[in-house]
Amino acid sequence: MGHLTMLPAWQALRAHYDEIRSRHLRDLFTEDPERAKRYTLEAAGLFLDYSKNRLNDQTLEALFNLARERGVEAQRDAMLSGAHINTSEDRAVLHTALRAPRDAVICANGHNVVPDVHKVLDHMGAFAQAIRSGAWRGFTGQPIRHIINIGIGGSFLGPQLVYEALKPYALRGLTCSFVANIDGAELANALQDKDPAETLFVIASKTFTTLETLTNAQLARDWLVEGLGAQAAVARHCVAVSVNVQAAVEFGIDANNIFGFWDWVGGRYSVESAIGLTAMVAIGGDLFAELLAGSRAMDEHFQSAPLGANMPAIMGLISLWYNNFFGAQTVAILPYAHALARLPAYLQQLAMESNGKRVDARGELVEVDTGPIVWGEPGVDGQHSFHQLLYQGTRLVPCDMIGFMEPLSRYQRSHDLLMASLFAQAEALAFGRTGEQLRALGVPPSRAKFEACEGNRPTNMLLGQRLDARTLGALIALYEHSVFVQGAIWGVDSFDQWGVELGKDMARHIIQEIETGSVGADHDPSTRRLLARYMAARRAGQG
Ligand code: F6P
Repeated sequence: MGHLTMLPAWQALRAHYDEIRSRHLRDLFTEDPERAKRYTLEAAGLFLDYSKNRLNDQTLEALFNLARERGVEAQRDAMLSGAHINTSEDRAVLHTALRAPRDAVICANGHNVVPDVHKVLDHMGAFAQAIRSGAWRGFTGQPIRHIINIGIGGSFLGPQLVYEALKPYALRGLTCSFVANIDGAELANALQDKDPAETLFVIASKTFTTLETLTNAQLARDWLVEGLGAQAAVARHCVAVSVNVQAAVEFGIDANNIFGFWDWVGGRYSVESAIGLTAMVAIGGDLFAELLAGSRAMDEHFQSAPLGANMPAIMGLISLWYNNFFGAQTVAILPYAHALARLPAYLQQLAMESNGKRVDARGELVEVDTGPIVWGEPGVDGQHSFHQLLYQGTRLVPCDMIGFMEPLSRYQRSHDLLMASLFAQAEALAFGRTGEQLRALGVPPSRAKFEACEGNRPTNMLLGQRLDARTLGALIALYEHSVFVQGAIWGVDSFDQWGVELGKDMARHIIQEIETGSVGADHDPSTRRLLARYMAARRAGQG
């Protein structure tokens, strides 16, 4: 792969950026009102309006050329066929196989993985049904009423997103909570008022070595043994999701209650593997299958649609356009659906752990900025906090806004107000209100200079009919593939995450020092003083 910035398409985009950077969305719409119709797309039940972006046909053509010159389609096909595109870990990347139909053939390392996937799905389905029906009994014979998912990163954010988003469809009388943080306060909070006889822990960890998860799992095990009076209770109240079966068995989990997956599923791409077990128990096997079907529909679209009509490709390229040419450092995710409150956090891991890389897949420095900072909050809430900066701040923050035609509640008027806000925000961000318009409305010039909003702030508008399992599946796959497209253009390995290892390594070292009471001389002066302060406070607390 040659130098990215030397490619003809990159050079064309740079020259084109100089022409279009000062153009206002108002002018782009005046010149070409048809763009409101032309720059829209439907796929897998999602409708995308990307017309309120600072681009025109020339921009799009150059972006598609860039994707071609970078071999994005060939890279996509390599991923889908099980090639080891996770080069630094020498692994296939096949989260798309998790939602493949039973009769599909997808090979990793020469082995068809689809039967394995469906075997685990069947196992999960039977387990979910046993919990939901009350057939599964705890150690003292009571049915399970609380599930606590212990896991972090992808072993937390995915199942939590699905559970929260689809809660209206979940079984009543069964609560699910999620414990990720090593801060014991989170576990204590989850255990409060729970009866161990009715509580089941899903210990979700791909590696089964993650310090936070294992610490919480051990505390949960102690709580169970203490509450139920027998070590044997652990097997009835703990199940595991992991590729590391041996470690889960050593922990005390019955081998029949370990739900496996495979090294070709990255943590942040694992929600539709057994990692989604807690969510599946809550919503049932049929709705979980719908989630997979939604993702599959988006996979099929991503695989077959030409670049010019390919939703994940278009979203990925637009994001890259702002990042690499306009210098936008962040992307805001604004779901106008409270049930998607955890979507920004989920996408944060997906995008930032995938593309937050400064070296490419060959280990060489990437010449341009890579993954943008992803953040966000549910729509409307954000309007009363950070939207001020979106409107009048000095930074360009492209936004993805997401809404649904039908409400999830029976409060239609509330939904109309929500949707009115969604459309108003996108319109106001794009077109603003000039000083002249304000004066025409009778606002004196002394105030107009403060009230004026320049507009020209871009948004993608994603609409679905209803927030349901299928739509959520499509949304998840849309962002997975959009992140893939960006990573493919930058040439990074979007599927490893070496950066997070350094902090883990240091924490392991420091916990030993805290526990032995002796701080080594190898720390910097600031860390030494911080540790000394903490250890003095700890001694005082114990004394
Ligand atoms: O620390 C980052 C990470 O490795 C993520 O990639 C992963 O989702 C998370 O930790 C949890 O890992 P595991 O599922 O192995 O406990």
